[in-house]
Amino acid sequence: MTGNFKTLFGVSLVGSGSATPAQKITNDQLAARVETNDEWVRTRTGIRERRIIGSDESLSKLSSQAAISAIEMAGWEADTVDMVLVATSTPDDLFGIAPKIQAQLGATNAVAFDLTAACSGFLFALVTAAQYLQNGAFKRAIVIGADQLSSWMDWDDRRSCVLFGDGAGAVAIEATNNDQNALIAFRLKSDGSRGECLSVPQKKDFVDLVGPFKNQIGRFSTIQMNGQEVYKFAVREVPLLLKDVLGNCGISADSLDWLLLHQANQRILNAVADRFSIPKSKVLSNLEKYGNTSAATIPIMLDEAVRDGRIKPRDLIASSGFGAGLSWGVALFRWHGKS
Ligand code: UT7
Repeated sequence: MTGNFKTLFGVSLVGSGSATPAQKITNDQLAARVETNDEWVRTRTGIRERRIIGSDESLSKLSSQAAISAIEMAGWEADTVDMVLVATSTPDDLFGIAPKIQAQLGATNAVAFDLTAACSGFLFALVTAAQYLQNGAFKRAIVIGADQLSSWMDWDDRRSCVLFGDGAGAVAIEATNNDQNALIAFRLKSDGSRGECLSVPQKKDFVDLVGPFKNQIGRFSTIQMNGQEVYKFAVREVPLLLKDVLGNCGISADSLDWLLLHQANQRILNAVADRFSIPKSKVLSNLEKYGNTSAATIPIMLDEAVRDGRIKPRDLIASSGFGAGLSWGVALFRWHGKS
């Protein structure tokens, strides 16, 4: 489904925020734990270090910090927020963390719930929240992408543990007139038939309950990933979808100001950019500092580039999230932050 259809209202991105854990673990430090080395990780992924949530931190606290920064940038009072939508696959409460964040923000008038779409989560949540604004149901929403994949890692599996980190990012979006609409187009995709190449499956642990009946204990495995399959999926599907979305809107790749991809691997970022002849100077990348923070990569990167002045008001951004599900999506939007 392409999002360039008629809506009652437009949507504007007016604030951003992010928060990352204090603990910073370099490739060399990881190499003391698992058989790897800085050179391999840097050249194969672009990652130099990652942040890992420590005992005095939590994912919901980081998410609240990110959201508070976004609300401050937007210049809102917290009680004017109508919706808090949290994209995460790793909540610190299985029933969801959005209500906890809503309370921490003082967003007393907001409905709050979680959405799970792994590394595509932030993009899916941004589009989902935008629907409520564009159809007139809500005026203001906070969209958060946050993940703590470190708690679902096999730290002895060098093929996956070097890739991921923890963090949270947020954007503040509000309804505008249709002629100021900043979410120009989107397309979201899923293919569950290929889901096994990246998953955190439930463990089959059953105990006796009563009489002949058994009960399953709620436990999950660690991240199971076929890295090469995920890599091939990303470099094939993301360009196809981006081409489709750009073509549908009649927008050429060279009119994009920024390519803002899920920060999974620098080689994936480069491959997608090369496919559209987008120069490296327009490809936003910070994965060397954080690794892959799953649903948080896009809003953390967006916030960094807004705050350091690279992204300017009305800049045109092509963003894509991709990952477990399998799921992937593209959104074309303009940054409307107050300058
Ligand atoms: O949000 C999406 C999340 N998932 C991803 O983004 C994963 C996408 N995939 C990738 O980024 C890449 O496939 C990886 C970075 C995971 C792996 O890179 P690769 O170039 O596909 O390496 P490979 O799996 O083909 O492994 C090459 C070699 C192997 O050794 P042999 O069999 O050739 O002797 C691996 O055992 O590199 C070895 N290797 C490592 N060596 C040092 C794998 N991981 C490591 C490591 N350190 N951490």
